[in-house]
Amino acid sequence: MTPPQDIAGSVNNLARTVSNSLNLSTSPNLSFHSPPTSFRQPPSGSFRDGRNGSGPGQSYASQLAKQLKPFDTKDVKVLLLENVNEAGVDILKEQGYQVEALKASLSEDQLIEKIRDVHVIGIRSKTKLTKKVLEEAKNLTVIGCFCIGTNQVDLRTAAQKGIAVFNSPFSNSRSVAELVISEIIALARQLTDRSMELHNGTWNKVSKGCWEIRGKTLGIVGYGHIGSQLSVLAESMGMSVIYYDVLTMMGLGTARQVASLDDVLQQADFVSVHVPATADTKDLIGPAEFAKMKDGSYLINNARGTVIDIPALIEASRSGKIAGAAIDVFPNEPAGNGDYFSNELNSWTKDLVGLKNMILTPHIGGSTEEAQSAIGVEVSTALVRYVNEGTTLGAVNLPEVNLRSLTHDEPNSMRVIYIHKNVPGVLRQVNGILLHHNIEKQMSDSRGEVAYLMADISDVKEEEIRDLFQSLEELSSCIRTRVLY
Ligand SMILES: NC(=O)c1ccc[n+]([C@@H]2O[C@H](COP(=O)([O-])OP(=O)(O)OC[C@H]3O[C@@H](n4cnc5c(N)ncnc54)[C@H](O)[C@@H]3O)[C@@H](O)[C@H]2O)c1
Repeated sequence: MTPPQDIAGSVNNLARTVSNSLNLSTSPNLSFHSPPTSFRQPPSGSFRDGRNGSGPGQSYASQLAKQLKPFDTKDVKVLLLENVNEAGVDILKEQGYQVEALKASLSEDQLIEKIRDVHVIGIRSKTKLTKKVLEEAKNLTVIGCFCIGTNQVDLRTAAQKGIAVFNSPFSNSRSVAELVISEIIALARQLTDRSMELHNGTWNKVSKGCWEIRGKTLGIVGYGHIGSQLSVLAESMGMSVIYYDVLTMMGLGTARQVASLDDVLQQADFVSVHVPATADTKDLIGPAEFAKMKDGSYLINNARGTVIDIPALIEASRSGKIAGAAIDVFPNEPAGNGDYFSNELNSWTKDLVGLKNMILTPHIGGSTEEAQSAIGVEVSTALVRYVNEGTTLGAVNLPEVNLRSLTHDEPNSMRVIYIHKNVPGVLRQVNGILLHHNIEKQMSDSRGEVAYLMADISDVKEEEIRDLFQSLEELSSCIRTRVLY
């Protein structure tokens, strides 16, 4: 069995030109291109290791993952807005796609004008892809959100139109974990107070209430991407780590899972919260939880603003129950930079900013150059895999479907992608259309009203591709069909 291979990685090494002469309609464009001349045979020429497809290299060549790009890549139009990171832009350009990268966002009218033409759009948080905009996006196949959130996209409309949406939720985990480490030390040494005093002309050299972090206990609430990174960093700095998670998880290093949130609160010198914002985690740390924390301990929240009851935090700080806190996220946050951190935003702001040893940062946990670059690479790679292979792993609005790659051992095979309404009887109809070919592998999954089917079929003749495509398009359940070969 040929192991799955990284198509994105092999694409550059197996460049091939596709003729437009038959004008067949296929993905990602609405007008077909002809199958490549290599449809029936693996392309000869040099492969990754320089072998040329003869002798011992032949079997290696035939086992290479086959590029599923029945279109000329230069026909794929990509519009990138909001200054997407260079690393992401390069990945798309390396595919040969036509990439237009703009620094700014576009107004709705400008967007409607532009989006009609493009197959792929990349945005960050400012561009709103509303129902109205998406209705005009006749050729759009996939949306890349080069950020964490996807609230700016009407995900339901996108799914109903068979447009996949990808984002990058975990590329900044390390950046957050590192910020927390800096905050632990800064809180333990009252660093920001000393700095602020000196900025105001006051020399205040004190050691009382200032601590090393070595030997102290860090309690992590939520041991996911960020919590586990933090665990490794903290341990390497001499802290002992305990954590609580709703899931049972293997601790890294000597970190130890405890049975309840109370265990963390009662044992930890520093409590750092890394849970998602859900109904269950709203006000996860409130008056009762502060009461259970060790006297003189510290609280850190780089997760989401709803997780901590801020009035309770203010009270715990005033009473001396906690010796300090670092807060990066707030229930209400301004949409842009400026003088917005006031009581109008959150009613307790004035009380919060007046507290000692209280580090307040404007949601910068994940804001580093490295995280931006990682986001660029992750989202662009997902876009390329979707355009070239149909893989939806990581999509936020379609079911996640993946098949191992076709290889050059399977020269007359093609991949059918059928995005359809999630209604009874579709599989029977689709397989009725595919039945004259051997279905080598098939996967189907649904998410709400939309389902995604992927099938690799063999023994397909060149002239049959258009008929297969059209028969699928004519089914009443069809949202979008793509054929890749
Ligand atoms: N400050 C920033 O800039 C920034 C950047 C990235 C992420 N975040 C936020 O950080 C948080 C953690 O992100 P992540 O990537 O580590 O998420 P993740 O999904 O990888 O991990 C979250 C963990 O929390 C656990 N969990 C869920 N509910 C829980 C509960 N009630 N009690 C205990 N554990 C619970 C989950 O099982 C999971 O292991 C999220 O809220 C995310 O939005 C903030």
